[in-house]
Amino acid sequence: HKSEAWSALFSEPMSDLVKRYTASVFFDKRLWQADIAGSLAHAAMLQKQGVISATDLADIRRGMNQIRQEIGSGAFEWKLDLEDVHLNIEARLTQLVGDAGKRLHTGRSRNDQVATDVRLWLRGEIDVIADLLQELQKALLGLAEANVDVVLPGFTHLQVAQPVSFGHHMLAYVEMFARDHERMLDVRKRVNRLPLGSAALAGTTYPLDREFVAKELGMEGVCQNSLDAVSDRDFAIEFTAAASLVMVHVSRMSEELILWMSQNFGFIRIADRFTTGSSIMPQKKNPDVPELARGKTGRVVGHLMALITLMKGQPLAYNKDNQEDKEPLFDTVDTLKDTLRIFAEMAGGITVVPQAMEQAALKGYATATDLADYLVKKGLPFRDAHETVAHAVKAAQSHNCDLSELPLAVLKQFNASIEKDVYDHLSLRGSLNARNTLGGTAPAQVKAQVERHRQRLGA
Ligand code: ARG
Repeated sequence: HKSEAWSALFSEPMSDLVKRYTASVFFDKRLWQADIAGSLAHAAMLQKQGVISATDLADIRRGMNQIRQEIGSGAFEWKLDLEDVHLNIEARLTQLVGDAGKRLHTGRSRNDQVATDVRLWLRGEIDVIADLLQELQKALLGLAEANVDVVLPGFTHLQVAQPVSFGHHMLAYVEMFARDHERMLDVRKRVNRLPLGSAALAGTTYPLDREFVAKELGMEGVCQNSLDAVSDRDFAIEFTAAASLVMVHVSRMSEELILWMSQNFGFIRIADRFTTGSSIMPQKKNPDVPELARGKTGRVVGHLMALITLMKGQPLAYNKDNQEDKEPLFDTVDTLKDTLRIFAEMAGGITVVPQAMEQAALKGYATATDLADYLVKKGLPFRDAHETVAHAVKAAQSHNCDLSELPLAVLKQFNASIEKDVYDHLSLRGSLNARNTLGGTAPAQVKAQVERHRQRLGA
């Protein structure tokens, strides 16, 4: 088994079971571009420092170009025997260019190599995710702007509470995804640091210029302790935590879309292309997309648990445990990107049903607080006003009508100071307009927020 990088010491070939168990190539091959980029930066530095010759560097570059083409076109033959992406690429390089290929690994270990590759790869994915988060915000912003004046019953405890603008409700999610975007960019800073040059764990005897490699790779600095550099996976955990929060936000929105789409609410319709039918019930249109997103949130939170648990018992420095960082991380990235993409598109396929929302708000006495506030303005202490309105709601309930449908004479029985102008306060729109504080639901406020977000997103 000459193909194995450490075979001289071993008196028998590795068992096939162990080979399968320890190999990662079938999932870590997705790091190939980062692996080649890292190797080229390392090689350029080795040459600059006089560790390898200019001819070696030229050979390495030529070989890597060919490998890029082979992998890109699907011609590259990935070998389980070569365990992982790093050994596969290095072996092919040596096959192509001979000794220069064998010199590439000078002053390097797979330990600092893999940590570098994952960081480079993740940095690129974070940039894609950050863009998708902006796209989703823009789509929700469009939905918000189109529906600033649509009144939705706001809920607490899922009981009708007070009227809110549908636009305002959408902007609540824009806030969440804006924080997610900020968080991703913050995580990126700690992802974008260079472990390479730490070698196996202790640094190396060659005169490496780590700052040069960092610059070549567009990284913001080098990891300052070799033991930490090769064993740290905080960046992956942080990213997965940030991704989990994105998914939690998507999941909360999903829950609302599912409820709103149910016949018992009927607040929205989701375009047919985002819904699915039933194989038995001909009348069905199911919100599979938000349901799956809600479900996939569990999967991503699970990956966070996997990664954080992966680290808890590890002594310094590198341990093979760390190979287990990849599948959870890869799946988190895939799930997140797919979910954000589909939600940004689906937002444009949501139609609101204002009448259903208003009906639901009216049924739930959503303007009761407004009547209490009205009485306070007439001089009643708030606690007394609260009690008075409770009686009025009870009366309306027994008449099976809204507060705004009680005749003035009836309202006056609860408090003599109630006048005709009370009906302005009891209407859904009156209630909405009255909440004109910063961050409140009055359409004027919501329009100002839409404008602020537009500026911020350059939309
Ligand atoms: N495939 C390995 C990983 O993902 C690369 C590092 C292997 N290092 C080692 N000393 N066995 O972590």
